[in-house]
Amino acid sequence: MIYLDNAATTFPKPPQVTMAMSRAMSKYGANPGRSGHAMSIQAAEEVYKSRQAVSDLFHAGGAECVVFTLNCTQAINIVLKGHVKPGDHVVTSCLEHNAVSRPLQTMADRMNITFTEVSVVPGDNDATVHAFRQALRPNTTLIICIHASNVWGIRMPVERIAALGREYGVPILVDAAQSAGVLPIDLGDSGIDFLCTAGHKGLYGPMGTGILIAKEGENLQTIIEGGTGTESAFYEQPKTMPEHLESGTPNLAGIAGLHAGINFVQTRTIQKIYMHEMKLIQTAYDSLSKIHGVKLYTKRPDMQHYVPVLSFNLEGKESEWVGQRLNRMGIAVRAGLHCAPAAHKTMGTLEGGAVRIAPSAFTKEVEVHKLIQSIFYMTKNRQM
Ligand code: ALA
Repeated sequence: MIYLDNAATTFPKPPQVTMAMSRAMSKYGANPGRSGHAMSIQAAEEVYKSRQAVSDLFHAGGAECVVFTLNCTQAINIVLKGHVKPGDHVVTSCLEHNAVSRPLQTMADRMNITFTEVSVVPGDNDATVHAFRQALRPNTTLIICIHASNVWGIRMPVERIAALGREYGVPILVDAAQSAGVLPIDLGDSGIDFLCTAGHKGLYGPMGTGILIAKEGENLQTIIEGGTGTESAFYEQPKTMPEHLESGTPNLAGIAGLHAGINFVQTRTIQKIYMHEMKLIQTAYDSLSKIHGVKLYTKRPDMQHYVPVLSFNLEGKESEWVGQRLNRMGIAVRAGLHCAPAAHKTMGTLEGGAVRIAPSAFTKEVEVHKLIQSIFYMTKNRQM
């Protein structure tokens, strides 16, 4: 199979990820930090080293700021529900994933918060930042911004939006599900208050791993409380990070796999991975733009404004039909709606969705050519 669905989850994973998971399960699979025996201590050490690796990758300023979650969605929910109070207003973008839109809507329905979805102007960061400024209100207590659209690959000027937030005293949460491992993120410099990301996409970890980085996470109200292996005599949830936000037995094998995935990214370098994938996506864009009947929605993805994710449609054909045809030809893509209704609405694809391709560090140029050839034949109604 030619796998071009890496925006949903990367496949294959580097072999060292599978090996690290297998090792955790077979050699030291005890409950980390819960017991005093050697295996439990070894497990706790692995979790600590993984936290440190996450902190190093994002310049987070220490392992204690790193909270392991089930996925990016859970990380976003922890911040939103732990920070935003009844009557508050949240500013977000028109490109957000349901991981943001649905908790916001639920909170609007249940606890009377309000939110504004700012219109993004692709390719014009000044206009986008201006739109965020205009949306701020006296009761705005949080800005949430996707770093890169999982549908259109559009990259958001999150550092400038974070600076805007600082100017007005409003913290910012960045959803880096589609950018971690592909774009450099420096929490030391950027002023980002909360970073949420998935472990199983550009960080090459397994599914079931997510990350929340919060410098002052102890100030968030918890949405889950429970055993942490610390301060166990007390009913009260510990205030110390990361335990404050991390209750219950963690996903040891997943965390070990994520650690190996991060090592893979660090060794290959984010810069090289990004250049490799962008070259492939530009090749795809250039070729698709020459095929009559292909509808592209964005400008040619450039290094400044895009990540390597590209969505398109074929005139007169349902996106899901195209996805199924590609599947039969041995090419895996995502088609239809991509859990981001606002992003689809922005480009007018809320009804039929779009066909999405996303390469990984392992994708070869010949595989992209095969996709282009298949699309070409499909527009001519020919069989491969
Ligand atoms: N959010 C993931 C995607 O874009 C699952 O496909």
